[in-house]
Amino acid sequence: MIRPAYRTLDPAGIRAFLAAQPALAERLGGSRADWRVREVSDGNLNNVFLIDGPAGGVCFKQSLPHVRVDPDWKMPLDRTTFEAAYLRAVRPHVSDLTTELLHFDPDLFALVVESLDGHVVLRHGLMQGGDWPEAAAAIGRFVARATFPTSPLALPFEQASALLAPFARNHTLTRITVDLVLTDPYHAHPRNHWLSPELDATVADLRADPAVRRRAGHMQARFLTCRQALLHGDLHTGSIMVAAHDTRVIDGEFALPGPIGFDCGLFVGNLLMHLFATPTPEGRTRALRDIAQFWTHFRRDFITLWTDAVTRGRSGDAYAAPLFRDDPASLRQVQDQFLADIEADTIAFAALEIIRRLTGYAHVADFDALPDRTVRAARQQAVLRLARDLLADPTHIPTIAALSALAAARVA
Ligand SMILES: Nc1ncnc2c1ncn2[C@@H]1O[C@H](COP(=O)(O)OP(=O)(O)OP(=O)(O)O)[C@@H](O)[C@H]1O
Ligand SMILES: [Mg+2]
Repeated sequence: MIRPAYRTLDPAGIRAFLAAQPALAERLGGSRADWRVREVSDGNLNNVFLIDGPAGGVCFKQSLPHVRVDPDWKMPLDRTTFEAAYLRAVRPHVSDLTTELLHFDPDLFALVVESLDGHVVLRHGLMQGGDWPEAAAAIGRFVARATFPTSPLALPFEQASALLAPFARNHTLTRITVDLVLTDPYHAHPRNHWLSPELDATVADLRADPAVRRRAGHMQARFLTCRQALLHGDLHTGSIMVAAHDTRVIDGEFALPGPIGFDCGLFVGNLLMHLFATPTPEGRTRALRDIAQFWTHFRRDFITLWTDAVTRGRSGDAYAAPLFRDDPASLRQVQDQFLADIEADTIAFAALEIIRRLTGYAHVADFDALPDRTVRAARQQAVLRLARDLLADPTHIPTIAALSALAAARVA
């Protein structure tokens, strides 16, 4: 139901809205007539505008009562509420890696955050052959620092539960993930499409494989029942903006409690697609470097945060400090097992992300970098087969390093 006070703001409405908030008006400087309002919406869901004034800029994002790119697909407005709540929850831990929340209006479902004008969306930058050697490590740090402190590893269970419970109600966008990412690609659904007809046989093989369906079902259960920490929930390369020495995660509207390997898997899955889509050997070398950097930094930072918490006697109720403070060998052992479980989830969610981005509703642009349609189809087929192989044999789940070696061999 649309609340009576809700209306979708046009540029004039946005000016009036910002002018009515003294702190925002001051940040922009001058008067509303001096402000430049530019629409930058490029996603499926929301309206996004950048506003520049003489003193500074802001980014304005508003939910629509429907999917932006499909007005017939009606959708509740609450997604920006979850994005604002996610920023409030993680910002203290990742202040240098996300955006400052400047204002949220619960009637208009309008969010104002700091403007990253001058940054580029990582996916677009990579497609143009750009290189941000620090970005993947920064995302590893981001996932470690946004998940560990929001988990019962760091918090008493009462606090973890109070923090996570509101995000368990992010039903609208969790439904999108459950359907579009985890279910639709594994059966015939009118929303599915792919670069046919070259991929018809590959898609048919994938759907016909009972082992793939069993594993997809297992990952559905992991996603819905393994509430390890607060997740970003949509951590693909389009949710990351980069400048030379600055990496920021945006668009936390899908935030939910879930398995940490889901955030890792979406990022790794998108790097794998970039690996298969990039036309140059240098691009492939960099994609493999980024996968390794991401995992190394995520793992190292997560374990450091955990060890510090236990050493200081300030851990949460899971792997509680009194059991491990004086037993570093056991602590290392349980850490290795916990991280190995995240690694296995990461690989499987990366495979599901690849499959849905090539055969489901919402595709990625990366393969547009290959002008020749036959080459494009061959590369998509190769990464789809890799994804299928990662899911089909539950007795042999590679490490991230082994996955990278396998991917490098298949893309060569
Ligand atoms: N803080 C910001 N500063 C500058 N540009 C931004 C900022 N936030 C978003 N953008 C731009 O607006 C675009 C859309 O933003 P965002 O991804 O948050 O929208 P969305 O509707 O949620 O997209 P999706 O449908 O992919 O989830 C981004 O790709 C980026 O180009
Ligand atoms: Mg979004």
